[in-house]
Amino acid sequence: MHNRNRLKLGLFGMNLSHGLSATRVPERWDASWDHNVAAAQIADEAGIECLVPVGRWRGYGGETNYEQDSFETIVWAAGLLAHTQRITVFGTVHVPLIHPVLAAKQCMTADHIGHGRFGLNVVCGWNPSEFGMFGHTQDPHDSRYERGQEWLEIITRIWDREAPFDYHGRFYDLHDVLGAPAPWGGRRPIIMNAGSSPAGLRFAVRNAELMFDQPGLIAEGRKRIPEIRRMAREYGRENIQVFSHAYVVCRPTRREAEEYLHYFAVENAENEAIDRLVSLALGNTQSMNPEQLKSARRRFAGGYFGEEIVGSPDDVAGKLKWISELGFDGLGINFVNFVDELPFFRDEVIPRLEKMGLRERP
Ligand SMILES: Cc1cc2nc3c(=O)[nH]c(=O)nc-3n(C[C@H](O)[C@H](O)[C@H](O)COP(=O)(O)O)c2cc1C
Repeated sequence: MHNRNRLKLGLFGMNLSHGLSATRVPERWDASWDHNVAAAQIADEAGIECLVPVGRWRGYGGETNYEQDSFETIVWAAGLLAHTQRITVFGTVHVPLIHPVLAAKQCMTADHIGHGRFGLNVVCGWNPSEFGMFGHTQDPHDSRYERGQEWLEIITRIWDREAPFDYHGRFYDLHDVLGAPAPWGGRRPIIMNAGSSPAGLRFAVRNAELMFDQPGLIAEGRKRIPEIRRMAREYGRENIQVFSHAYVVCRPTRREAEEYLHYFAVENAENEAIDRLVSLALGNTQSMNPEQLKSARRRFAGGYFGEEIVGSPDDVAGKLKWISELGFDGLGINFVNFVDELPFFRDEVIPRLEKMGLRERP
């Protein structure tokens, strides 16, 4: 994650059935363990920087029960770290669902398995039906981030070997906290966050080395990113990385790519699940306005309202260049089927990015 590539790449969402694409097509992502390992190893060898899972506890329904099956992300990361050599693998952890003393140790276990390649994506939560399963009521919006601040403070103090310590906060009251081992090589895992409401953004710039910005706002990057960097500097963070998210459909010709997009994301969209996801998101986040969400069924079918990157290898590389020029350091991408589609992307798009000076040969 700290290499010199101007546009870093991550695979996003492959721990979930369907990946991120809300589609009914039969070749949709079957997130079996073997498929996850296969995709991770292709990505690792191609020099892709990271794998980012989604923390998800229940599916969104529809004919194919969109995202019903999902691997728990720290266990998933530990397994993939053992099967790869270079790539950073994130765990995506819901703050209120895992006690920080436990989370600190789970992260360290994965970090040692990967010899320092584990990353922590902190999510403060938004979906009340997931919280209900644990018997929790969600905190009011901004308090989620206040809880997250305490949670992360406890974890980083454990990692920084301050233990034993007492902690008396609003959300946690802990005594004689211990937690070893320290991070592999003495360096904390990279921390990521995707909050983007005013409270969420402040939490991200204060704590994260990598901020995952809302994909719906990608075109505003040129204005947003300097502001994000300015806010981060208020907390002494000079080198915050800003990522966004896109789904990729790359085929030999633009026409083939557009036809495939129409087939999976329009004709075979999993609309019942999309509508459920949209109505849940509308009620529980402050990050997208209702009109934006309602008009975006196709982008949800492609992958979580991601930016759409569809076309020939030249088209795809050109759009990635545009995203880099907006100021983004990297992009999490998803495909309908990671194992089927990643090799073409590796062979046709990544070399173009290298020629454009956006990436170096691994
Ligand atoms: C790229 C990206 C990845 C996210 N991953 C997850 C996730 O895995 N699990 C989850 O519950 N929320 C996830 N979220 C939701 C955010 O953590 C956050 O709750 C949401 O963006 C609302 O932010 P806000 O509270 O600042 O409005 C993700 C959001 C984005 C943009």
